[in-house]
Amino acid sequence: MPVIELRSLVKHYRNVHALQGVSITVEKGEIYSLLGKNGAGKTTIVKILLSIVRATSGEAILLGRPAGHVESRRKVGYLPEDHRFPDYHTGWSALDYYAALSGVSGAERRSRIPEMLRLVGIEESGRRKIRTYSKGMKQRLGLAQAMIHEPDVLFLDEPTDGVDPVGRKQIRDVLVHLKSQGKTIFLNSHLLSEVELISDRVGILELGKLRREGTVAEMTVEKDIYELRLEGAFDALMPEIARRVRGVRRIAGGVEVDVENAEKLNALVDYLRANRVALVGMTRKRQSLEDVFIQEVGVAGQGA
Ligand SMILES: Nc1ncnc2c1ncn2[C@@H]1O[C@H](COP(=O)(O)OP(=O)(O)O)[C@@H](O)[C@H]1O
Ligand SMILES: [Mg+2]
Repeated sequence: MPVIELRSLVKHYRNVHALQGVSITVEKGEIYSLLGKNGAGKTTIVKILLSIVRATSGEAILLGRPAGHVESRRKVGYLPEDHRFPDYHTGWSALDYYAALSGVSGAERRSRIPEMLRLVGIEESGRRKIRTYSKGMKQRLGLAQAMIHEPDVLFLDEPTDGVDPVGRKQIRDVLVHLKSQGKTIFLNSHLLSEVELISDRVGILELGKLRREGTVAEMTVEKDIYELRLEGAFDALMPEIARRVRGVRRIAGGVEVDVENAEKLNALVDYLRANRVALVGMTRKRQSLEDVFIQEVGVAGQGA
């Protein structure tokens, strides 16, 4: 049984067609990242799954039940986008408050709060007022809040927004740890970060439609571009090299070539060797997830 199942989900807000028939399935223990520019419909999907907003049509099933079922909601943790804690709280008192709301007993709270603060790397600041926290610390506290009642499924809306590289690494480590415990994680992001690279699958959403979906490996296929490290007077051969390949670019210590096939690549190497240029290294380039993302949605991070 999938943990999350969306079938032809449609959402219209008056005249805004926020979702235009989105189908996504997420299995238990998966980390799924939904990528897309601002306005793509990512938050709407999460809000429908948490029954904060109603779908216009289609189905949203969470843990085998229609979204909004009380039983399922208890097993879900949520870090909302732009989450703000009342800043008179300390990290500790905020977690205590949210845990109590979720029905976690006093004894459990006393052991779980320091454990959660440690897990997200802010245990030293737990007794400080939240108003003294950086954006990254607030996001990590938000992650702790989402996990405090030990949910099976986590919805994280823009968890790395405003978080520095160290904080992002910490978030990534927490997610990997949660996955190892069998939790399912659904993550929204408008700016690609390393966090998405730990995802089992990635979906690219644009204007309410799922444009592409797959594993990071599937999406970042190898390209026919090779970096050749060369020794010898190859600069003089550039015009001849250019004649033998689809594209060539001079790089430090060699050339980057775009070739149709292995035969052409070998012919080029033969030509170079015949002209006393030695091949000392070669790597095939992969398209990065960022390249794919930009191809699908335009410049990453630009708002709609
Ligand atoms: N409550 C609302 N009323 C009207 N339009 C909305 C509302 N919430 C979201 N929208 C619109 O729906 C679209 C998708 O928004 P959203 O799901 O927040 O996208 P994302 O999270 O990918 O940035 C946007 O065009 C947004 O302006
Ligand atoms: Mg959003």
